[in-house]
Amino acid sequence: MTTTTAPQLHPDAKAFLDKKSHKLLIGGQWVDALSGKTFKTTNPASGELLGTVAEADRADVDAAVAAARAAFEGPWSKVTPSERGKLLNRLADLVESHAEELAQLETLDNGKVIGEALKGDLPLSADLLRYFAGWTTKIAGETTPVSVPYYPGARFMHYTVREPLGVVGAIIPWNFPLLMAVERLAPALACGNTVVLKPAEQTPLSALRLGELIGEAGLPPGAVNIVPGFGPTAGAALAAHMGVDKISFTGSTEVGREVVKASAGNLKKVSLELGGKSPNIVFEDADLDAAAKGMFMGIFYNQGQTCSAGSRVFVHESKFEAMVAALAERAKKVRQGPGLDPASRMGPLVSEEQMKRVLSYVEAGKKEGAKLLAGGERAGGPLAGGWFVQPTVFSDVKDSMRIAQEEIFGPVVAVMPFKDEAEVLARANGTPYGLVAGVWTKDIKKAFRMAQGLKAGVVWLNCYQFVDAAAPWGGTKQSGYGREKGPYAIEAYTQVKSVWVDLN
Ligand code: NAI
Ligand code: MG
Repeated sequence: MTTTTAPQLHPDAKAFLDKKSHKLLIGGQWVDALSGKTFKTTNPASGELLGTVAEADRADVDAAVAAARAAFEGPWSKVTPSERGKLLNRLADLVESHAEELAQLETLDNGKVIGEALKGDLPLSADLLRYFAGWTTKIAGETTPVSVPYYPGARFMHYTVREPLGVVGAIIPWNFPLLMAVERLAPALACGNTVVLKPAEQTPLSALRLGELIGEAGLPPGAVNIVPGFGPTAGAALAAHMGVDKISFTGSTEVGREVVKASAGNLKKVSLELGGKSPNIVFEDADLDAAAKGMFMGIFYNQGQTCSAGSRVFVHESKFEAMVAALAERAKKVRQGPGLDPASRMGPLVSEEQMKRVLSYVEAGKKEGAKLLAGGERAGGPLAGGWFVQPTVFSDVKDSMRIAQEEIFGPVVAVMPFKDEAEVLARANGTPYGLVAGVWTKDIKKAFRMAQGLKAGVVWLNCYQFVDAAAPWGGTKQSGYGREKGPYAIEAYTQVKSVWVDLN
């Protein structure tokens, strides 16, 4: 089925694709959707069919939540913290030993270039599992010296316990399908929760393969359930489900708002990792070579389909012309092609819908008077069968333009000059978003002043696009709330019980 675009597929990737149809994972069983419905998943580099996938809807989500609840109350609750850690480490080993195969599935389904999948998504996924495996035995409460002023002579002991929340629903996007799945599963399971995972409809394959590896690792049935399907059906059913204790959502700000509304029924906990329109700021005293690389990678990594894309680049006016010209030249030289071709440096966008959305922003930029310096079109020639958009650079951008305010989620950057620190800080903070920000300067005081002033959940000083299992991740303002990764994820997947003991 995939021989035209994937001549050197790993035998395990080929075997997985050769199944041609994939099911839901509910209570440890691979099952069809109750409706019998399926949907297609395709290779965005060519439009070619990769397989059909059972399409979960409300009834399947009900079954998955029931299975997750049964596992939470039953076998999973009896697994000791140390054993949970072992299981997560075993899964990490499997992710690592299947890295090539998983990276190929990711590239085929999502479009990203294989090098990025192999060097980024895969090692990070294994590392997240190991990081949270280590946490399992360290999720402790504390003893608290209570005084009880209204009760003279009081003698009490008081302690706290960190308990799992119960059933966690994870609704994830298509830009880092495996990594996003693991980023939810690892802390949720480490804390003793069970999970219902809804992968994005564009990219279900790597999560389904991960589901097989989860079984191989020996997690009890129902600890992880996987229900691919569409947002308004499966996603909405999970978000509103009365039997779900927490939703962890990553995706658009618009859907994030829907998830919050849907959570009101049972007041489930919600954490949201939403959109961004992040500033990447280059001062005149920066290491300009490093900044040039950071500008480029900040926007074009993963075809610009990152929540943390440095999509607003501010360059000090004294260096503006040279830096922008260099960025545009570099953008024009990017070798685009199918992600599995090792010579490709940029792959297609995930879908025709995303390509159209991105191209409509290019049109909006032109119409509002921005100057196109590179790209701006769908790639043609041998790439015309896929959803490729050329790396695109705009200058003459005003802060008020749509391309400077709205998340594009594609390889389109708006580059703007600035005069001084106070001005650029105000402009950098001038969108509804606040996910990440980058600053390039050799002046250490200026760097820390900027880090203090930027309204963002993550600030990178003289670097960009770095993430780690141990470093908290999440946004301010309309980029969401809650933190994934790092110790804060443990708080996000547990609740505190306060226990009193009368010693009088
Ligand atoms: P989306 O927000 O619609 O989809 C993300 C996930 O939410 C998917 O699993 C989807 O099935 C699910 N979903 C959709 N509607 C839902 C609903 N009503 N209830 C529950 N779940 C629902 O994102 P989409 O349409 O794929 O992309 C649109 C834009 O969103 C992008 O252009 C980009 O700006 C932004 N986005 C941001 C991401 C991030 O990493 N922060 C990731 C993906 C998209
Ligand atoms: Mg959508």
